[in-house]
Amino acid sequence: MDIANSTVFITGANRGLGLAFAREARRRGVAKIYAGMRNTAGFNEPDIIPIRIDVTDKASIAAAAGLAADTTLLINNAGIAELIDGPLSGDVEEQSQRLFDVNYHGVVRVTRAFEPILSAQPQAAIINVLSDIVWLPRPILTPYAASKAAAWSYTNQLRFHLREKGIQVLGLHVGFVDTDLTDGIDVPKASPQDVVRQTYDALAAGRSEVMADRGTTVLKSTLSADVPGYITPPEGVI
Ligand SMILES: NC(=O)c1ccc[n+]([C@@H]2O[C@H](COP(=O)([O-])OP(=O)(O)OC[C@H]3O[C@@H](n4cnc5c(N)ncnc54)[C@H](OP(=O)(O)O)[C@@H]3O)[C@@H](O)[C@H]2O)c1
Repeated sequence: MDIANSTVFITGANRGLGLAFAREARRRGVAKIYAGMRNTAGFNEPDIIPIRIDVTDKASIAAAAGLAADTTLLINNAGIAELIDGPLSGDVEEQSQRLFDVNYHGVVRVTRAFEPILSAQPQAAIINVLSDIVWLPRPILTPYAASKAAAWSYTNQLRFHLREKGIQVLGLHVGFVDTDLTDGIDVPKASPQDVVRQTYDALAAGRSEVMADRGTTVLKSTLSADVPGYITPPEGVI
């Protein structure tokens, strides 16, 4: 996709990776950038248009799609994470419902609302922000991992389904990134700027997925091994 000539709509764009996507789009000369966010008060970024959207609220999604009806690139970025004791924890069901509502159903809702807009464009694309967690056993992130794995699966179905309409669908997989989401977790983290640069480059090159850090690249390379990384993670990845 020709990013400079696109009109971008990003969910969760008031901070973190979403804001980095918006700023990098501006740096690349994108003419119109819609920054979707739950609360637009106080958002003040030159040449970036704030639009209210809560991905758990269908009315707000429909209103946002109405205001951004010239979107050609949708970035499903909004997401939440929570830690848990493990897969057998007493609150696993409740937490899963909360995380699926945003990380999976949110992606589905927003994609369904914007698809008619994208289908009407001569060139259009969708980026779904996923994670290395779809292939990584990390029990303290069980509901998060399941919600992202569901979003990954949806991304694969969507890509194939939209192929004949010429809509490019790109999945972004990455490990820890330095945003509020990983505050207090003392591990090496990728920079949001580097992740979004790689993602736009992959989109421009016509690719379907991007592994935006070394750990995720190594992890994915194990998927066809006798003992893939989701059974025993490769050295240095966990
Ligand atoms: N950071 C990482 O290590 C990492 C790694 C892999 C993938 N990711 C993914 O990257 C994406 C962005 O995360 P981040 O690291 O930038 O986290 P972040 O700094 O915590 O930002 C999360 C964003 O999502 C928004 N959001 C949450 N719930 C929402 C809802 N119901 N409706 C609309 N927006 C909502 C937040 O808005 P508010 O400000 O209103 O809360 C915020 O803008 C997420 O999908 C996350 O799963 C992150």
